[in-house]
Amino acid sequence: MRVAGENQPCGVSFKFRILAENPPAGPVDEGFEASARKNSTPEPDSGGAGLSGHEPVLLSEVLTFLREGLSGTSSPRIVDGTLGLGGYSEAMLQEFPQAEIIGIDRDPEALRRAGMRLAEDGSRFRAVRSNFGDMRRALAERGSFDAFVFDLGVSNMQLSEGERGFSFQRDGPLDMRMDPEGDAHTAAEVLARTDVRELARIFWEYGEERHSRRIAARIEEYRRRGESPETTGELVSLIRGCLPEPVQRKMGGHPARRVFQALRIWVNDELGELEAMMDQLPALAAEGCVVVIVSYHSLEDRIVKHRFRAWEKEMGLGVVLTRHPVLPGEEEMERNYKSRSAKLRAFRFKGKNDKIKK
Ligand SMILES: C[S@@+](CC[C@H](N)C(=O)[O-])C[C@H]1O[C@@H](n2cnc3c(N)ncnc32)[C@H](O)[C@@H]1O
Repeated sequence: MRVAGENQPCGVSFKFRILAENPPAGPVDEGFEASARKNSTPEPDSGGAGLSGHEPVLLSEVLTFLREGLSGTSSPRIVDGTLGLGGYSEAMLQEFPQAEIIGIDRDPEALRRAGMRLAEDGSRFRAVRSNFGDMRRALAERGSFDAFVFDLGVSNMQLSEGERGFSFQRDGPLDMRMDPEGDAHTAAEVLARTDVRELARIFWEYGEERHSRRIAARIEEYRRRGESPETTGELVSLIRGCLPEPVQRKMGGHPARRVFQALRIWVNDELGELEAMMDQLPALAAEGCVVVIVSYHSLEDRIVKHRFRAWEKEMGLGVVLTRHPVLPGEEEMERNYKSRSAKLRAFRFKGKNDKIKK
């Protein structure tokens, strides 16, 4: 599926609304186990319960790191921290026939679909609804694990369904919450309630949007008139309306791409959750545990890189397996647009017989 970089106006009518003045708070997720129901019927849409059109990014590279890291473990215990449509989990169940896998996601719809698909392996696979930033609680009393994999960001399913509000190419409510049942504020609420300077900071810091102040000022202008964007199409039109044509042409890619990315990261507190997850990982890792993380923008990759380096150099917890990030090959980038920005990094915690100096 092609997502970023295509110029496709939404062409929708405007309908703005102003909401109460409250600052946005970070998301709070509950943690519970989703049973994989074999008999429920998938929705008749693009994703369904199957993997149609979904190609897991850098899958063979992820499996290579796991194969090497788990070579001495007869029944590995693996956590797929971002289950999504279950592409990684499915491949790991096949690759490691003795493995027990726990798939975590904060999106109830992802759990329902992947859980349903992987129910065949019910005894070896469990889907757990949780924020990975709250992993220690979700995995409490389950012991330690031999491998963790994370494929950060949003899934194709989330992007391709207009009503989730993630896509600047599909009209729908400006929601963007990965967990629509949680109490995080929607993107529409953030736009309606956040101070104009803070909005500009969000667009700049999380989207590296050079026109952040101009776009935030336009939103403020609408709010003074008692209006605020409520749909993805309205936000796209607002952004297009405040940037002159030549500026839009120079932006490379869709003019709303960076603002959408920034809002998504903010709404879901993606960087805060990533930091929290990495704080908790060492306590959940068994000896020799392998951690593989695929990220899609520099802010995430920087967190992963620095944390792995600190685990190795300052804390002596293990070794970084990737001096440089692993990138997808030309062929994968051709085939799968989403993979173009992917970077994989891997780390191995010290094993029983390792001699790693602090
Ligand atoms: C890129 S997709 C994963 C795709 C998956 N590897 C596959 O092959 O189908 C990322 C998934 O991670 C989930 N996710 C992102 N941040 C999360 C978090 N903090 N806690 C739990 N799940 C999260 C999203 O809801 C989404 O379903």
